[in-house]
Amino acid sequence: MKSAKQYSYGKQCIDWRDVWSVVKTLKSNFLTKGPKVAEFEKAICDYTGAKYCIALANGTAALHLAMLALDVKEGDEVLTSPNTFLASANCALYVGATPKFADIDPETACISVAEIEKNLTAKTKVLIPVHFAGQSCDMEKIKQIADKNNLFVVEDAAHAIGSEYKNSKVGSCKFSDMVIFSFHPVKNLTTGEGGAITTNSEKIYKKLLLLRSHGMSKDTASLTKNDGPWYYEMHDFGFNYRLTDIQAALGVSQFKKINKFAKRRKEIVEFYRQEFLHDRRFSFLQERDYSKSCPHLFPLLIDFVEVKMSKKEIFMKLQEQGLNLQIHYIPVHLQPFYKNLGFKEGDFPNAEKYYEKTISLPLYFGLSNCDLSHIVNTVKKVIS
Ligand SMILES: Cc1ncc(COP(=O)(O)O)c(C=O)c1O
Repeated sequence: MKSAKQYSYGKQCIDWRDVWSVVKTLKSNFLTKGPKVAEFEKAICDYTGAKYCIALANGTAALHLAMLALDVKEGDEVLTSPNTFLASANCALYVGATPKFADIDPETACISVAEIEKNLTAKTKVLIPVHFAGQSCDMEKIKQIADKNNLFVVEDAAHAIGSEYKNSKVGSCKFSDMVIFSFHPVKNLTTGEGGAITTNSEKIYKKLLLLRSHGMSKDTASLTKNDGPWYYEMHDFGFNYRLTDIQAALGVSQFKKINKFAKRRKEIVEFYRQEFLHDRRFSFLQERDYSKSCPHLFPLLIDFVEVKMSKKEIFMKLQEQGLNLQIHYIPVHLQPFYKNLGFKEGDFPNAEKYYEKTISLPLYFGLSNCDLSHIVNTVKKVIS
């Protein structure tokens, strides 16, 4: 029998202020290309400390444009984590480059600095560390490797708006060329669909501005001629990857609550930790001293041999009880598409072992203490 109340692993939190912000924009003159996009970008710059921000249609578009802005192309290699969503690796393929992986640190599930060094080749052009579950990778060390080997760094912070690394907000670009964000509804804050790139480079910013909107320019200083006020020129091969003002209005309103969201997310993580701490069948990822996460996921690591049940069995029993969970992540290199590119089982054993034992419990602002007790009791009952 299906339980009445359903929980997913992540969910947006929308209040009347968000609704009002969107309604005001719907009634305004601009549904897109208007002032709300700039306001949202400024909020991200003010918060992260980055000089420039470009709001985009989604995090995948942000990764794609990041590759184009760095002129990544056929013959180049892009090194990322196998424990991530497909887009972190696919962005290399979008521009004809080759995705490569470096295994994770099993204690954090983030890319291992030692493994990055082992997997560099003469063709490596970009590193894409993924801040898994909200925890920043060790960016200072990654930047040192990049500088030594003349590489670019693009941080995939789809999980990590609100997180900090060594007293800087993730997104500051202190140790990278660009940081990308996603504002999908399961993320720490949402615009429905949405994404952004922060950078401190004016050159990259200008290129991204062009690429976001068909490569079109109306900037009189850059035009080869000027037929009149309507005149525009195409200076690059771009896309329509714009965020609308409707979405940005939601983003501006959501951003005002980022500290509140972060606080509650941390409380929920602490609650789960306390509840599962003393049972040796369960374990968690570790948070390093350099990181202060705004947690996006709570991966519970389960010793399935000890619990004498398979992951599938537990997953389905939890589903019957209303817990519609998710696994983060099926290692990207094990996807059939990536296997066709030559990757195989055993290539990245830490990511593969991690996948075997992880389940993400519900983590979002709207969960009450009552919900949390119910979730924990359900998990404990199923894994009795
Ligand atoms: C680590 C990571 N990178 C990139 C993305 C892509 O973001 P979007 O869904 O906004 O395109 C996601 C989305 O889940 C993600 O989790």
